[in-house]
Amino acid sequence: MHEERSCPCSVWTPASGSRARPAARSRTSSSASGGPGTPTPRSPAGTSAPSRSRPPPGARRSPAPYLPAAERTPEQAGALALAATLADEIADAEALLFAVPLYNFGVSQHIKTYVDLVITDPRFGPRAEPPTAGKPAVLVTVRGGNYSAGTPREGWDHATGWLRRILADVWGMDLRVVERDFTLVGVNPALDSFTDLAAELKATAEREATEHGRLLSSTPAAA
Ligand SMILES: Cc1cc2nc3c(=O)[nH]c(=O)nc-3n(C[C@H](O)[C@H](O)[C@H](O)COP(=O)(O)O)c2cc1C
Repeated sequence: MHEERSCPCSVWTPASGSRARPAARSRTSSSASGGPGTPTPRSPAGTSAPSRSRPPPGARRSPAPYLPAAERTPEQAGALALAATLADEIADAEALLFAVPLYNFGVSQHIKTYVDLVITDPRFGPRAEPPTAGKPAVLVTVRGGNYSAGTPREGWDHATGWLRRILADVWGMDLRVVERDFTLVGVNPALDSFTDLAAELKATAEREATEHGRLLSSTPAAA
Protein backbone atom coordinates (compact mmCIF):
# COMPACT_ATOMS: atom_id res chain seq x y z
CA MET A 1 0.00 0.00 0.00
CA HIS A 2 2.87 2.42 0.78
CA GLU A 3 4.14 1.98 -2.71
CA GLU A 4 0.72 2.86 -4.09
CA ARG A 5 0.48 6.08 -2.07
CA SER A 6 3.39 7.58 -3.90
CA CYS A 7 2.52 6.35 -7.36
CA PRO A 8 1.41 8.45 -10.31
CA CYS A 9 -1.48 6.04 -10.33
CA SER A 10 -3.50 7.38 -13.16
CA VAL A 11 -0.68 7.96 -15.58
CA TRP A 12 -1.78 6.31 -18.74
CA THR A 13 -1.32 6.46 -22.46
CA PRO A 14 -4.07 5.43 -24.86
CA ALA A 15 -3.65 1.76 -25.69
CA SER A 16 -4.12 0.57 -29.23
CA GLY A 17 -7.33 -1.20 -30.03
CA SER A 18 -9.11 0.03 -26.91
CA ARG A 19 -12.71 -0.95 -26.71
CA ALA A 20 -15.69 -1.64 -24.50
CA ARG A 21 -17.36 -4.91 -25.16
CA PRO A 22 -20.48 -6.05 -23.41
CA ALA A 23 -20.64 -9.70 -24.47
CA ALA A 24 -23.79 -11.69 -23.94
CA ARG A 25 -23.90 -15.42 -24.55
CA SER A 26 -27.16 -15.39 -26.35
CA ARG A 27 -29.34 -17.58 -28.47
CA THR A 28 -30.47 -14.65 -30.56
CA SER A 29 -28.65 -12.73 -33.23
CA SER A 30 -27.40 -9.30 -32.24
CA SER A 31 -27.74 -7.88 -35.71
CA ALA A 32 -30.27 -5.10 -35.74
CA SER A 33 -32.92 -5.19 -38.38
CA GLY A 34 -33.87 -1.56 -37.95
CA GLY A 35 -31.05 0.51 -36.46
CA PRO A 36 -30.79 4.26 -36.51
CA GLY A 37 -29.09 4.05 -39.88
CA THR A 38 -32.03 2.28 -41.47
CA PRO A 39 -33.23 4.10 -44.60
CA THR A 40 -36.26 6.23 -43.94
CA PRO A 41 -39.44 4.59 -45.29
CA ARG A 42 -41.14 6.85 -47.80
CA SER A 43 -44.76 7.11 -48.85
CA PRO A 44 -45.58 6.12 -52.46
CA ALA A 45 -45.42 9.76 -53.43
CA GLY A 46 -41.89 9.95 -52.09
CA THR A 47 -42.71 11.97 -49.00
CA SER A 48 -42.85 10.86 -45.38
CA ALA A 49 -46.31 9.89 -44.13
CA PRO A 50 -47.89 12.77 -42.15
CA SER A 51 -48.11 10.94 -38.81
CA ARG A 52 -44.42 10.07 -38.99
CA SER A 53 -43.06 13.28 -40.37
CA ARG A 54 -40.08 15.02 -38.85
CA PRO A 55 -41.07 17.72 -36.30
CA PRO A 56 -40.36 21.28 -37.40
CA PRO A 57 -36.94 22.53 -36.32
CA GLY A 58 -36.99 23.69 -32.71
CA ALA A 59 -40.24 21.89 -31.87
CA ARG A 60 -40.24 20.06 -28.56
CA ARG A 61 -41.26 16.40 -28.66
CA SER A 62 -41.56 13.71 -26.01
CA PRO A 63 -38.82 11.08 -25.95
CA ALA A 64 -39.65 8.23 -28.32
CA PRO A 65 -40.59 5.60 -25.69
CA TYR A 66 -43.35 7.89 -24.35
CA LEU A 67 -44.90 8.70 -27.71
CA PRO A 68 -47.71 6.61 -29.21
CA ALA A 69 -46.17 4.36 -31.89
CA ALA A 70 -48.02 6.20 -34.66
CA GLU A 71 -46.41 9.50 -33.68
CA ARG A 72 -42.81 8.30 -33.73
CA THR A 73 -40.52 9.42 -36.52
CA PRO A 74 -38.89 6.64 -38.56
CA GLU A 75 -35.62 7.40 -36.77
CA GLN A 76 -37.27 7.02 -33.36
CA ALA A 77 -38.97 3.79 -34.43
CA GLY A 78 -35.64 2.48 -35.72
CA ALA A 79 -33.83 3.37 -32.50
CA LEU A 80 -36.48 1.63 -30.40
CA ALA A 81 -36.26 -1.44 -32.64
CA LEU A 82 -32.50 -1.54 -32.09
CA ALA A 83 -33.00 -1.17 -28.33
CA ALA A 84 -35.46 -4.09 -28.41
CA THR A 85 -32.94 -6.24 -30.33
CA LEU A 86 -30.21 -5.51 -27.77
CA ALA A 87 -32.64 -6.07 -24.91
CA ASP A 88 -33.66 -9.44 -26.42
CA GLU A 89 -30.01 -10.40 -26.56
CA ILE A 90 -29.37 -10.03 -22.84
CA ALA A 91 -32.87 -11.26 -21.93
CA ASP A 92 -32.12 -14.53 -23.78
CA ALA A 93 -28.55 -14.90 -22.50
CA GLU A 94 -27.78 -17.66 -20.03
CA ALA A 95 -24.83 -15.80 -18.55
CA LEU A 96 -23.23 -12.43 -19.19
CA LEU A 97 -19.69 -11.16 -19.38
CA PHE A 98 -18.88 -7.44 -19.56
CA ALA A 99 -15.26 -6.41 -20.16
CA VAL A 100 -15.00 -2.66 -19.72
CA PRO A 101 -11.97 -0.35 -19.64
CA LEU A 102 -11.77 2.90 -17.67
CA TYR A 103 -11.71 5.85 -20.05
CA ASN A 104 -10.96 9.34 -18.75
CA PHE A 105 -12.01 8.38 -15.23
CA GLY A 106 -15.42 7.13 -16.37
CA VAL A 107 -17.13 4.67 -18.67
CA SER A 108 -16.40 4.80 -22.37
CA GLN A 109 -19.00 6.25 -24.69
CA HIS A 110 -19.57 2.76 -26.07
CA ILE A 111 -20.85 1.15 -22.88
CA LYS A 112 -22.73 4.34 -21.89
CA THR A 113 -24.54 4.43 -25.24
CA TYR A 114 -25.27 0.72 -24.97
CA VAL A 115 -26.84 1.12 -21.51
CA ASP A 116 -28.73 4.28 -22.48
CA LEU A 117 -30.22 2.42 -25.42
CA VAL A 118 -31.15 -0.84 -23.65
CA ILE A 119 -32.69 1.07 -20.75
CA THR A 120 -35.24 2.65 -23.10
CA ASP A 121 -36.72 -0.82 -23.60
CA PRO A 122 -39.67 -1.12 -21.16
CA ARG A 123 -38.28 -4.41 -19.82
CA PHE A 124 -35.07 -2.73 -18.64
CA GLY A 125 -36.25 0.63 -17.28
CA PRO A 126 -35.57 1.62 -13.66
CA ARG A 127 -39.04 0.51 -12.50
CA ALA A 128 -39.22 -2.77 -14.42
CA GLU A 129 -38.71 -6.31 -13.15
CA PRO A 130 -35.98 -7.06 -15.69
CA PRO A 131 -35.60 -10.44 -17.41
CA THR A 132 -31.94 -10.41 -16.33
CA ALA A 133 -32.89 -10.58 -12.63
CA GLY A 134 -30.83 -13.28 -10.94
CA LYS A 135 -28.80 -14.06 -14.05
CA PRO A 136 -25.12 -14.82 -13.43
CA ALA A 137 -22.88 -12.04 -14.72
CA VAL A 138 -19.24 -11.05 -14.48
CA LEU A 139 -17.96 -7.52 -14.92
CA VAL A 140 -14.24 -7.25 -15.66
CA THR A 141 -12.95 -3.71 -15.34
CA VAL A 142 -9.48 -2.78 -16.57
CA ARG A 143 -7.62 0.39 -15.69
CA GLY A 144 -4.29 1.64 -16.89
CA GLY A 145 -3.48 3.25 -13.53
CA ASN A 146 -4.26 2.22 -9.97
CA TYR A 147 -7.23 3.57 -8.06
CA SER A 148 -7.27 1.28 -5.04
CA ALA A 149 -7.73 2.45 -1.46
CA GLY A 150 -4.85 4.61 -0.28
CA THR A 151 -3.66 5.65 -3.73
CA PRO A 152 -3.61 9.36 -4.64
CA ARG A 153 -6.48 8.89 -7.05
CA GLU A 154 -8.67 6.71 -4.91
CA GLY A 155 -12.25 7.60 -5.88
CA TRP A 156 -11.38 8.77 -9.39
CA ASP A 157 -12.79 5.62 -11.00
CA HIS A 158 -16.31 6.79 -11.76
CA ALA A 159 -17.04 3.78 -13.95
CA THR A 160 -17.08 0.68 -11.76
CA GLY A 161 -19.60 1.99 -9.21
CA TRP A 162 -21.95 3.11 -11.96
CA LEU A 163 -21.67 -0.24 -13.74
CA ARG A 164 -22.52 -2.03 -10.48
CA ARG A 165 -25.61 0.20 -10.10
CA ILE A 166 -26.82 -0.63 -13.61
CA LEU A 167 -25.96 -4.33 -13.84
CA ALA A 168 -26.73 -5.42 -10.27
CA ASP A 169 -29.20 -2.87 -8.94
CA VAL A 170 -31.16 -1.80 -12.02
CA TRP A 171 -30.92 -4.96 -14.13
CA GLY A 172 -30.80 -7.31 -11.14
CA MET A 173 -27.93 -9.50 -12.32
CA ASP A 174 -26.17 -11.81 -9.90
CA LEU A 175 -22.95 -9.89 -10.40
CA ARG A 176 -19.32 -10.68 -9.67
CA VAL A 177 -16.67 -8.05 -10.37
CA VAL A 178 -13.03 -8.55 -11.28
CA GLU A 179 -10.99 -5.35 -11.09
CA ARG A 180 -7.61 -5.20 -12.80
CA ASP A 181 -5.40 -2.16 -12.21
CA PHE A 182 -2.09 -1.12 -13.77
CA THR A 183 -2.63 -2.62 -17.23
CA LEU A 184 -0.34 0.11 -18.56
CA VAL A 185 2.65 -1.02 -16.52
CA GLY A 186 5.11 -2.19 -19.15
CA VAL A 187 3.53 0.18 -21.68
CA ASN A 188 4.02 3.55 -19.97
CA PRO A 189 7.63 3.91 -18.75
CA ALA A 190 6.47 6.28 -15.95
CA LEU A 191 4.97 3.21 -14.28
CA ASP A 192 8.06 0.99 -14.49
CA SER A 193 8.60 1.03 -10.73
CA PHE A 194 5.28 -0.78 -10.28
CA THR A 195 6.22 -3.85 -12.30
CA ASP A 196 6.07 -6.26 -9.36
CA LEU A 197 2.86 -4.84 -7.99
CA ALA A 198 1.25 -4.98 -11.45
CA ALA A 199 2.24 -8.66 -11.80
CA GLU A 200 0.65 -9.37 -8.43
CA LEU A 201 -2.57 -7.53 -9.37
CA LYS A 202 -2.68 -9.39 -12.68
CA ALA A 203 -2.30 -12.78 -10.98
CA THR A 204 -5.06 -11.94 -8.49
CA ALA A 205 -7.41 -10.75 -11.22
CA GLU A 206 -6.74 -13.88 -13.27
CA ARG A 207 -7.45 -16.10 -10.27
CA GLU A 208 -10.74 -14.31 -9.64
CA ALA A 209 -11.66 -14.39 -13.32
CA THR A 210 -11.05 -18.15 -13.44
CA GLU A 211 -13.22 -18.69 -10.39
CA HIS A 212 -16.06 -16.54 -11.72
CA GLY A 213 -15.72 -18.03 -15.19
CA ARG A 214 -16.33 -21.47 -13.70
CA LEU A 215 -19.46 -20.15 -12.09
CA LEU A 216 -20.74 -18.76 -15.40
CA SER A 217 -20.03 -21.97 -17.26
CA SER A 218 -21.77 -24.06 -14.59
CA THR A 219 -25.12 -22.28 -14.94
CA PRO A 220 -27.76 -24.94 -15.63
CA ALA A 221 -28.41 -23.72 -19.17
CA ALA A 222 -24.72 -23.46 -20.09
CA ALA A 223 -23.68 -26.82 -18.61
C1 LIG B 1 -9.34 6.97 -24.47
C2 LIG B 1 -8.70 6.28 -23.31
C3 LIG B 1 -8.85 6.81 -22.04
C4 LIG B 1 -8.28 6.18 -20.94
N1 LIG B 1 -8.46 6.69 -19.70
C5 LIG B 1 -7.91 6.09 -18.64
C6 LIG B 1 -8.09 6.61 -17.34
O1 LIG B 1 -8.72 7.60 -17.09
N2 LIG B 1 -7.51 5.95 -16.31
C7 LIG B 1 -6.80 4.81 -16.49
O2 LIG B 1 -6.33 4.24 -15.50
N3 LIG B 1 -6.63 4.27 -17.71
C8 LIG B 1 -7.17 4.89 -18.78
N4 LIG B 1 -7.00 4.36 -20.02
C9 LIG B 1 -6.29 3.10 -20.14
C10 LIG B 1 -7.23 1.92 -20.21
O3 LIG B 1 -8.16 1.87 -19.16
C11 LIG B 1 -6.39 0.64 -20.17
O4 LIG B 1 -5.39 0.73 -21.16
C12 LIG B 1 -7.20 -0.57 -20.40
O5 LIG B 1 -6.36 -1.67 -20.13
C13 LIG B 1 -7.66 -0.61 -21.86
O6 LIG B 1 -8.15 -1.84 -22.17
P1 LIG B 1 -8.27 -2.25 -23.70
O7 LIG B 1 -6.87 -2.11 -24.25
O8 LIG B 1 -8.76 -3.64 -23.67
O9 LIG B 1 -9.21 -1.29 -24.31
C14 LIG B 1 -7.54 4.98 -21.13
C15 LIG B 1 -7.40 4.45 -22.42
C16 LIG B 1 -7.97 5.10 -23.48
C17 LIG B 1 -7.79 4.50 -24.85
